[in-house]
Amino acid sequence: MNQLLKGKKGIIFGALNDKSIAWQVALKCHEQGATFVLTNAPIAMRMGEINNLAALCNNAQIIPCDVTKNEDMENLISKSMEILGGKIDFILHSVGMSVNIRKGKQYSDLDYKFHHDTLDISAISFHRLMQTCFKMDAVNDWGSIVALTYIAAQRVFPDYNEMADAKSLLESYARSFGYHFGKRNRVRINTISQSPTPTTAGSGVKGFGDFFDYAGALSPLGNASAEACAEYCVLMFSDLSRMVTMQNLFHDGGFSNTGFSYDVFKLMENKQ
Ligand SMILES: NC(=O)c1ccc[n+]([C@@H]2O[C@H](COP(=O)([O-])OP(=O)(O)OC[C@H]3O[C@@H](n4cnc5c(N)ncnc54)[C@H](O)[C@@H]3O)[C@@H](O)[C@H]2O)c1
Repeated sequence: MNQLLKGKKGIIFGALNDKSIAWQVALKCHEQGATFVLTNAPIAMRMGEINNLAALCNNAQIIPCDVTKNEDMENLISKSMEILGGKIDFILHSVGMSVNIRKGKQYSDLDYKFHHDTLDISAISFHRLMQTCFKMDAVNDWGSIVALTYIAAQRVFPDYNEMADAKSLLESYARSFGYHFGKRNRVRINTISQSPTPTTAGSGVKGFGDFFDYAGALSPLGNASAEACAEYCVLMFSDLSRMVTMQNLFHDGGFSNTGFSYDVFKLMENKQ
């Protein structure tokens, strides 16, 4: 079979370690013939694991970028075009962090400075990325930009805390910018709403283990893995999905449309 991303050039944000969804996306994009730049926050670079990923992906170049800084974003986009030899075809935004959760603050007791930082890192960064690309005319026609999100943007999951609001904003940016980028360059913007996934960010949410089991029991197909999410990202970067834009796409084994499952009862009985 032909490689789905042969000749395509991309930027992948957020591969921290081999549990990261972005890590799996990079491996799949490489497998499907893409060349890309890897990026993460300078502080995340110090752990060094991203170098191992780069080695597995034909020595992909790594460019540090704190997504809250305009100058970092501009530097990333211009260097990526230099390295890849032209405009970009696909971008994965796989970035999220809640400062209030980190500091143990409940939703009804938010520190607003922390809240601003959370929104900046987890949502405004997506607008910053798209606006920087738009102004620099950095994305090829029919390019595809994807950000990862979670169903707490639509329904209440109390321990997801302020990240629910960050994800709502992220999804809204995909629709609003999707219009402008679509009109000018036919660039597609979508969010993928992924099942709970055992990663560093995911496991930081209180009660993650119980919630992971619950979601798996409710979903007819079970929880979607990081690897399956990576395959869906490849599809969204490929030309096969070229008329899909401004959508929030659930990749959750059916969780979002399921109201009841006996498997949840069985799970609860076993937990007592
Ligand atoms: N794990 C889940 O259950 C789950 C479910 C749905 C959606 N998501 C979303 O998937 C995305 C990736 O998360 P993950 O689960 O792979 O966890 P992860 O911890 O592996 O990835 C989060 C990444 O964000 C990066 N980051 C944080 N602050 C940054 C900054 N200032 N600048 C640049 N990068 C920064 C981290 O370094 C890390 O690489 C996030 O948007 C997350 O909300 C995760």
